[in-house]
Amino acid sequence: MKLIFIYIVFTIGIWGCVESSKNRNGKASDDKEWWKEAIVYQIYPRSFNDSDGDGIGDIKGITEKLDYIRHLGITAVWLNPIYSSPNDDNGYDVSDYRNIMADFGTMEDFDQMLEGMHERGIKLIMDMVVNHSSDEHKWFKQSRSSRDNPYRNYYHWWPAEKGKPHHRYSLFDEKGDAWKYDSLSNAYYLHYFSVKQPDLNWENPKLRQEVYDIMKFWAEKGVDGFRLDAFQFAAKDTTFPAFPDDLDKNFIQYYAMQEGLHTYLKEMNEQVFSKYDVMSVAEGAGRNFKEAHELVDANRNELNMAYAFDAADIAKPEGYSVVHFKEVFSRWDSAFSEKGWLSIFLSNHDQARLVSRYGNDSPEFRVLSAKMLNTFLLSMRGTPYCYYGDELGMTNIGFETIDQYRDISAINGYKKVLLSGGNVKAYLTSLKFGSRDNGRTPMQWDGTANANFTTGKPWLPVNKNHIEINVKTEELNPRSVLNHFRRMTKLRRENPALIYGSYKLLQPEHPTIYAYIRELGNKKLLVLLNFSSSDSSINLVETSKINHIKINNADDMIIENNKITLTPYQAVICTLD
Ligand code: GLC
Repeated sequence: MKLIFIYIVFTIGIWGCVESSKNRNGKASDDKEWWKEAIVYQIYPRSFNDSDGDGIGDIKGITEKLDYIRHLGITAVWLNPIYSSPNDDNGYDVSDYRNIMADFGTMEDFDQMLEGMHERGIKLIMDMVVNHSSDEHKWFKQSRSSRDNPYRNYYHWWPAEKGKPHHRYSLFDEKGDAWKYDSLSNAYYLHYFSVKQPDLNWENPKLRQEVYDIMKFWAEKGVDGFRLDAFQFAAKDTTFPAFPDDLDKNFIQYYAMQEGLHTYLKEMNEQVFSKYDVMSVAEGAGRNFKEAHELVDANRNELNMAYAFDAADIAKPEGYSVVHFKEVFSRWDSAFSEKGWLSIFLSNHDQARLVSRYGNDSPEFRVLSAKMLNTFLLSMRGTPYCYYGDELGMTNIGFETIDQYRDISAINGYKKVLLSGGNVKAYLTSLKFGSRDNGRTPMQWDGTANANFTTGKPWLPVNKNHIEINVKTEELNPRSVLNHFRRMTKLRRENPALIYGSYKLLQPEHPTIYAYIRELGNKKLLVLLNFSSSDSSINLVETSKINHIKINNADDMIIENNKITLTPYQAVICTLD
């Protein structure tokens, strides 16, 4: 007769199981850093909380919610851009780097928010958008005014008498053309993003100094870190040679990590990062591991951590391979196991919702799969970046028609498909699954009108499911996604093995279960995640060593000899002897 051990762990009881925080400093690793221990919460300010009823989230709105944020157990906030901007790309087109966007409030509001964060032990990471500025920035206005203006070389200009420059691809342009002709000085300027986001010329030392001074301005205010937007594209071969025809499809290959980038980063490090206790992370991690390491190896004095996209692009409307998912995360982990440091994320303001892409947002499985995904993010090696609303299991809104979208990339992408005679229906289907606006709908605070995000008309509709998925309801339910998220942040903060411990993947070929061990000193944690909507079993020799269940999104875990059976989307972390 088989012996059946059934461990019953009620989610509510888990607070009591977490070890004492006295253990926190027990196993100090030589290279301890606050930014490695950080749990980052990303806030898209436009969508978080509107304090003045204009339908747009603002800084005071964030300040009002600081206790909520602290209570999530996160330790740092990454704030998407809040600088003055005409909002062609929701703040990623900056017209004044030393001022606050009128929609978001004032510098006084900012100072109060920062103070409130620091009082609560929360660090603040600012988004620095310096691959490009807005075309409404005074530098660009000057630059375009004449060819001999002192600001001319702050941007990339190509005199029209030399003919049309070689093709460069633009991510947001309706025609995909990164060169825009400007009759004022009979020249083309370069814009890898929208026509209102001209690329800055990093070859110009004056421009570089301006950027470092801006960063120092914010560092002097006391911010704790910088995320460098699109920075891997900042260096360019300014002779603009012809590129092969597959250019548009291999954007990263041709545009990222061009010569000069490391020089600029070293200079930025010397002038800014080394002078303040700030962390640094660039969007993107180069084209391969070698380049990723070159960005973040501590002895090179460039950046602190890499933010790689391989895993964030795996989810597809038709589903994805769990084996592949594991392989990508494990490959990146092993490349960074000795040196360097990674970010761990699956969603951000450029992606659709976590649970709709990587989990299962059906009524039956949304809660379970959202908890499972948050368990994953918060138990991997690397600094986790959790996107606002994912702690509730917020879902895609799933717009049907193009006029519902506000995102320039969706709107201009649509125009491009129309212009090129492409399949508009297929494009709309792909947007419904993957568009950035899915991840930008307002935060769902409660079940009342507009989820209590605003008293006005929200800039982007609130998801109708806020009646059920919202902070207020989830606060009251010990088994909610929110309360599971809080238990996970607590578990991570109190277990250095989840931060600094080694990572070992078990059974890479298992089609549905992601199992791994995090180990530091004599502490071993086994993580078991069922990525499928059916029961899944796994045979593990480690089973006999299971000692204590630290977290479980189901009521129990079924163990028969060495076989563990997980229910749909079950997530368990247990200690091993
Ligand atoms: C980055 C940002 C994205 C923005 C783009 C241009 O990719 O994450 O939101 O649209 O840069 O600044």
